[in-house]
Amino acid sequence: MAESIHLLIVDDEDALRTVMAERLTDAGFQVTEAASGEQALEKLERFAFDVLVSDLRLPGIDGREVLAAAIQRYPGIIGIVVTGYGTVKDAVDAIKRGASDFISKPFQFEELLHVLESALEQRRLRSENAYLRQQLEQRDGLPGVVGRSLPMRDLCQMIETVAPSGATVLITGETGTGKEVVARAIHQTSPRRQQRFVALNCSAIPENLLEAELFGHARGAFTGAVATRQGRLEQADRGTLFLDEVGTMSMQLQQKLLRVLQEREFERVGENRTIKVDVRVLAATNSDLLKMVSEGTFREDLYYRLNVIPLTLPPLRDRKEDVPLLVQHFIRKVTTRDGHPADAPEVMVSQDAMRRLMAYVWPGNVRQLENAVERALILRGTRPQVDVTDLPPEVQSVPVEAAPTLDLPDDGVDLPSLIARVERDLISRALTRTDGNRADAARLLGLKRTTLVEKLKRMPDLAQ
Ligand SMILES: Nc1ncnc2c1ncn2[C@@H]1O[C@H](COP(=O)(O)OP(=O)(O)OP(=O)(O)O)[C@@H](O)[C@H]1O
Ligand SMILES: [Mg+2]
Repeated sequence: MAESIHLLIVDDEDALRTVMAERLTDAGFQVTEAASGEQALEKLERFAFDVLVSDLRLPGIDGREVLAAAIQRYPGIIGIVVTGYGTVKDAVDAIKRGASDFISKPFQFEELLHVLESALEQRRLRSENAYLRQQLEQRDGLPGVVGRSLPMRDLCQMIETVAPSGATVLITGETGTGKEVVARAIHQTSPRRQQRFVALNCSAIPENLLEAELFGHARGAFTGAVATRQGRLEQADRGTLFLDEVGTMSMQLQQKLLRVLQEREFERVGENRTIKVDVRVLAATNSDLLKMVSEGTFREDLYYRLNVIPLTLPPLRDRKEDVPLLVQHFIRKVTTRDGHPADAPEVMVSQDAMRRLMAYVWPGNVRQLENAVERALILRGTRPQVDVTDLPPEVQSVPVEAAPTLDLPDDGVDLPSLIARVERDLISRALTRTDGNRADAARLLGLKRTTLVEKLKRMPDLAQ
């Protein structure tokens, strides 16, 4: 029954934890161990476990914090706390905070197994969880920007630093990574937040109309210009102008934009009067502007004017630990939009589905994830939980990575020498298994034979 149940056991008592892990493995669980709260948090960031069994008392980050972090990230996780010497009060407290059950030390293995089985059974039956909603409330961070991975934290810090200034920011990143989200966050955190945020997607408007859209036009300036009209620049006066897909602008328009950035003045199409504006310009692109500069399709001077402060959004595949937060965010967004009653049960995502969502590469980044969540919510029908079968086929079939098994020790590692040791060890084993046949060994290692031979030159003792 427990075959695909991934369980994380956290205890600083090595002997006890190891025995538990062995017996749980024998009982069919996929077990991962953590010897401290810190290790547990790291593993939880990278893998959606079904069950967390944690000692409450841990040196450093204690079990309560581990539990809280686990539930906040994965409302669908089952948390079981282990308490010492009849400290029932702590256990009750943990239950209030969302633990499914507790067990007191010392305990028989069968007791733990029983607690686990009934919690898993409960989860199968559970359709709602009132405490979740409060966990889902907007957390610290910037308006609209979800994500607490290291790259996102760095980015948010950068946004907070640059927002108050009037500096031009160039936001780059693959499609769907959240460039517009970041632009809005900058505006929202800036002193201009009471004024308008005006967005102009340069690729969405035909070239001949883009100029008039940006600068406005006089009546009769061109066919169809039946009245005088303000451009986006004027609309954004005292606020923020967001130029999206700025790489698609023609050279001629780039020249005019450059002048605005330098002088903060321009003329409407078909007028001579010079208009002065106070705008902050934010620009975004998913093309490689530097390359375009070298190819002569983007003005170098404009590039440097725009790129005063560069912000680069990391692709979602480089920050998979943000996936659970984004999933919760989108579930809330969709259900709110679709007018679900505020007291309706929160929709859950099975941990198995979450593992696949975290393992997939997301070429379309956050936007693609958002679409997948929206689709899953529809396919779910009236079921209380999103399951693997509700996910897009390419996500369903993605191989799920194993739970992380390596620990980063408190005093760090020497990565090059560790990698060298692992490499040596695996090469040695591959050679043993293949009776020294280098071609076969190379195949086992996913190497070209010549690469293996090269490596063996540096390992003379293995080479014989
Ligand atoms: N960090 C985030 N937090 C919350 N929602 C996000 C985040 N990043 C992206 N999104 C959502 O993903 C979708 C795509 O984001 P956005 O439009 O900002 O991407 P983009 O980088 O401008 O994409 P494109 O290059 O295709 O224009 C939006 O619905 C947005 O709300
Ligand atoms: Mg965009």
